[in-house]
Amino acid sequence: MDKIQAAIAKARAAREGRIPPPKPVAPSKATPVVGGPMSKRSQLIRPATDRASIWLPLANFVPSPKKMARQRIVTFSNSAAKPEGAAAFDMLRTKVLQQMRAQGWKRLAITSPGKDCGKSTVALNLAFSLSKQAEVHTIVGEMDMRRPTLAKALDLSGGGSFAAVLEGKASFTDVAMRARPNLAFAVNYGPVRNSSELLQSSTIEPALDEIEARYQPDLTIFDMPPMLQTDDTLAFMDVVDCVLLVAAAESTSLAEIDVCERDLASQTNVVGVLLNKCRYMDNETGQMGYD
Ligand SMILES: Nc1ncnc2c1ncn2[C@@H]1O[C@H](COP(=O)(O)OP(=O)(O)OP(=O)(O)O)[C@@H](O)[C@H]1O
Ligand SMILES: [Mg+2]
Repeated sequence: MDKIQAAIAKARAAREGRIPPPKPVAPSKATPVVGGPMSKRSQLIRPATDRASIWLPLANFVPSPKKMARQRIVTFSNSAAKPEGAAAFDMLRTKVLQQMRAQGWKRLAITSPGKDCGKSTVALNLAFSLSKQAEVHTIVGEMDMRRPTLAKALDLSGGGSFAAVLEGKASFTDVAMRARPNLAFAVNYGPVRNSSELLQSSTIEPALDEIEARYQPDLTIFDMPPMLQTDDTLAFMDVVDCVLLVAAAESTSLAEIDVCERDLASQTNVVGVLLNKCRYMDNETGQMGYD
């Protein structure tokens, strides 16, 4: 794995030498750090008055611990003895949170070059890890409209879809499901027609602004589709503050990581590349490579 990291660093260095640096991301995309100029989005966010009572009416659900374990959601358990891999996600949580708070970022997308790299698994683990910090409120929004998987992973059925919220046809309050007092999910219950158009639609930004204005999440995590099959994900990067790129150690090539990281960096802030599905690890966590 050291070799993979070294090779990524080498590819990145080579790239930096031959490619001009990405254009700086417009500051208005991130909520400004305290004292900075007020963005349109931050003006919409009310002071954090009694956030708990605003979240309380959201429909509650209780994921099955056995199902979560089968899905590799190792951060779900609250037991003192952490399951294997949980410590790595807690470390990822701390780094992501620190970086996002320092920059005033609120929206994190999780994507990967190809399919099956572990985006949804990482999104869920990060979300449950974050939920252990009572003051941190997180929303997970499923943006994989073609092949949604979160409802099945979480054993949710029959509710309204996040896609309808983003189209302005349903309210987040009616669609969101709360797994913890400070963790809510908005998922899709089947493939969404015209998913490409929706991901690039002008209705998304006002819909997200409205959710943030009411629920004041510290973070919204977007579980994205893979990058290399469509341009849906790249188009959506204009709407987020930052992105985490997940690669699968034994199926993602360095060239794929390189091209995706470069494309993402031209649109938003890349908070790291996470190598998932590593078979040979010092600490046997299966994840590494966050930077
Ligand atoms: N670290 C890991 N080690 C082994 N298997 C893993 C690991 N992370 C995820 N998986 C498994 O890989 C499969 C794909 O994971 P997941 O659905 O999270 O990927 P994805 O990138 O979201 O896929 P898609 O592109 O379909 O959205 C699942 O069966 C999951 O349990
Ligand atoms: Mg997925």
